[in-house]
Amino acid sequence: MTKQIHLNAFAQHSVSPHAIGLWKHPDHEGDAHGSLSYWLKLSEILERGTFDTLFLADVLGIYDVYEGSSRAALEQAVQVPAHDPTVIVSALAQATKHLGFAVTVSATYASPYKLARLFSTLDHVTDGRIAWNVVTGYLESEARNLGLAGRIQHDERYDRADEFLDVVYKLWEQSWERDAIVKDVQKGRYIDSSKVHPIRHEGKYFDVPGIHLVDPSPQRTPVLFQAGASSRGRDFAAKHAEAIFTDTQNSKEAVPALRSFTADLRRRLQWNGRRPDALKVFPGFVPVVGSTEEEAWRHYEELKSYVNYDGSAALLSGHAGFDFSTLDPDEYVENLPSGAIQSTFESYTSTKPDAKWTVRDAILHHGIGAGSTPIVGTPEQIADRLETLVVDGGADGFNVGQTVTLRSIETFVDEVVPELRARSLFRETYEDGTLRERLFGKGQRELRDDHYGRRVTIEKGDVFA
Ligand SMILES: Cc1cc2nc3c(=O)[nH]c(=O)nc-3n(C[C@H](O)[C@H](O)[C@H](O)COP(=O)(O)O)c2cc1C
Repeated sequence: MTKQIHLNAFAQHSVSPHAIGLWKHPDHEGDAHGSLSYWLKLSEILERGTFDTLFLADVLGIYDVYEGSSRAALEQAVQVPAHDPTVIVSALAQATKHLGFAVTVSATYASPYKLARLFSTLDHVTDGRIAWNVVTGYLESEARNLGLAGRIQHDERYDRADEFLDVVYKLWEQSWERDAIVKDVQKGRYIDSSKVHPIRHEGKYFDVPGIHLVDPSPQRTPVLFQAGASSRGRDFAAKHAEAIFTDTQNSKEAVPALRSFTADLRRRLQWNGRRPDALKVFPGFVPVVGSTEEEAWRHYEELKSYVNYDGSAALLSGHAGFDFSTLDPDEYVENLPSGAIQSTFESYTSTKPDAKWTVRDAILHHGIGAGSTPIVGTPEQIADRLETLVVDGGADGFNVGQTVTLRSIETFVDEVVPELRARSLFRETYEDGTLRERLFGKGQRELRDDHYGRRVTIEKGDVFA
């Protein structure tokens, strides 16, 4: 049987978060992101396209690395306004039946005790359709405004997140036994207190003595998404993630590069005692669809004409952790230090002479897709490329980026999804079940038995002990 792929729509609670300058496009609807009707319309489109999730990215800071100022980010609405992504989920869950919601919250700036409560609540109200995209943050401005002296170093962010996950696994997986709620009217007790356990976590970064505040939700632990690409990030993914987002380039080398990325992850999974299919790999891309190839390229040129150089430079500088205004636009992007997203930076520092990026090209490329590569062509050509990335690259599905919202995702749903279905690559209809069951099969509501989170234990003691 042909491998069944998964599709996630890449979004963020902002105006035009991954296509910089497209707020000026006459058909762009992103200004309405503050209203629920915008998100309801998007969810309806995605459910029509039998998407797995609406993926909501998030940052908690302003892009002020470029020119050491937030001017360009503000003027070009670079992921600002930045509304909270968690608030809309319950309304969207009410309006949909199957669509999952993968919501980003940074482990660096959240409290594990509160985050566990938030996601358990979301898992209850969505009937098990929630995923947490675990990020560790990359903007200095996030750190400063959230009470830290500055950004925590790259690898230490992951060390801290490792312990953060230990705490939340204890809360989600161990604190409550499934049958703790007894509602025993005769004995006069709602909860059997002997089945609710304090986690007594004491660690380097967190001390959490108490019990989880929420009873077990359909999935207990939300589906865990992540996007690490550095070596430390991949280790983290291999230990914790059930789905990983990655960027791809649109070159000939992209397929072998993706294949070696997936093979490397599978090896790391094995080191963590997990089966090779325990982690889904989702490269990101931006579809640019035309009824002919020429029309698609014309459309791409039109989109590029809206990209704002300064705004896009602000986004790239924030992602790369380096001020691109200090460089000559005609010089090559090479060997610059980065403490932010290492992979973003590395994707523009090719050592091959024919694949080198000038500063100007890298900035303008980043303006459409924010690092996810555009795939330009007819629905058949786009499906061909996706199929190659699945069959030869080892992808399990995709993170579909947007340009002119909501039109671009609607075009993908109406024109490319039928092509994927015709090739038996993608579902025609949904089956009932939780998000984890959609990804890993019927019956797989909770973390799989080979997942690290199932091995984290607590000493079970009485809540009153
Ligand atoms: C598709 C994709 C989406 C991401 N979304 C977010 C996000 O919403 N918020 C965030 O802080 N970081 C986000 N990141 C950044 C990652 O969490 C991570 O920092 C990055 O991939 C770099 O990992 P590395 O430092 O291990 O290379 C995203 C990365 C990718 C590839």
